Amino acid sequence: MKILATGGTGYIGSHTVVELIASGHEVEILDNLSNSKESVLDRINEIAGVRPKFFNADICDFNALSKIMREGNYDAVIHFAGLKAVGESVEKPLEYFETNVGGSVNVLKAMREAGINKIIFSSSATVYGDQGLGFYDEEAQTGIKIACPYGETKYMIERILMAEAVARPEFECTILRYFNPIGAHPSGLLGEDPNGIPNNLMPVIMRVSTGDIPELQIYGDDYDTEDGTCIRDYIHVVDLAKGHVSALDKMKTGAEVYNLGTNKGTSVLEMIKAFEDASGKKLPTKVVARRAGDVPVHCAIADKANRELGWKAELDVADACRDTLNYLAHEARG
Ligand code: NAD
Ligand code: WQD
Repeated sequence: MKILATGGTGYIGSHTVVELIASGHEVEILDNLSNSKESVLDRINEIAGVRPKFFNADICDFNALSKIMREGNYDAVIHFAGLKAVGESVEKPLEYFETNVGGSVNVLKAMREAGINKIIFSSSATVYGDQGLGFYDEEAQTGIKIACPYGETKYMIERILMAEAVARPEFECTILRYFNPIGAHPSGLLGEDPNGIPNNLMPVIMRVSTGDIPELQIYGDDYDTEDGTCIRDYIHVVDLAKGHVSALDKMKTGAEVYNLGTNKGTSVLEMIKAFEDASGKKLPTKVVARRAGDVPVHCAIADKANRELGWKAELDVADACRDTLNYLAHEARG
């Protein structure tokens, strides 16, 4: 298939583009480079042997989007582009609604105009909110006690996609709810490189390991879990990328939702230990107060993706730590 990947130079997008090319798909990328670099295209070329055609464009610019889609002859869109920092979304809600919701509406309108019927959308486990279930399958309710505007945007976009699927009988929509993506490409050429001060656990661990952040703050060790720290479902980004290829092969009319996770929880202390084991170095840590909005356990039941897409996560947190360290070493060499 010929695919347009919005946000395709980003962390998850770039890994997915590599897997799509490896599976014989033709991919073009649209990104405004607000959180990624054009050099990612060379890295993709090094790994996959193809430098995807690139459009430096913004999903908020409907005219640009529409021209690209009308001229591209695409079979499908994979829509990764968006803003994703939970804390920032509390400070800049309008920017988040404008880019994530407004931008997604533009993507859908441009697709309709160009006669493109297939979309895969990057949603998030955050849509399940805080229901205290611990493990979530796709039947769990969404939209309840979502912790931040970022999460609200993902919930709203899901609702918009579902409405569009009702309005357009030929529309094929797959919503993928990612849990906690971590890790890097085993080549060391692609990985997560957030601008500014990171918030997510693995990027913080990376900066602590390089000495850019003096110590890792553990946000609470008094949760009702075995070791007192929060438990999440960390999924290797290469497994996640492969999930998109499987989803593309199995698209059908209507809107379908799949969790992409590992069915396994890892605590903050277990993650620190896994990284220390992989690097052979202790990380300086300090237990501090709980972070607002955190829940003790938030993990996937990803059986539906296994059953219907034939997809299953194959890598574990040890693989992710090894690949992250390899990426860091590669970046340090320049
Ligand atoms: P990322 O920031 O690395 O990638 C997003 C890409 O979108 C970037 O390259 C950025 O430059 C681009 N972009 C942002 N605004 C744009 C705009 N207005 N027009 C065009 N391009 C724009 O993030 P990621 O981790 O790769 O996430 C990809 C998608 O997956 C996002 O939609 C994110 O919300 C979702 N998601 C991420 C996680 C996670 O923890 N990383 C978890 C669940 C869902
Ligand atoms: C994981 C655990 C922290 C940093 C977020 C979004 C979610 C999704 C993935 C996009 C928690 C603890 C963290 C630190 C710590 N993103 N931690 N010290 O909160 O599960 O999910 O990213 O869709 O929507 O909410 O991930 O990596 O921030 O935190 O102790 O310096 O690590 O308290 O228990 P989270 P995270």
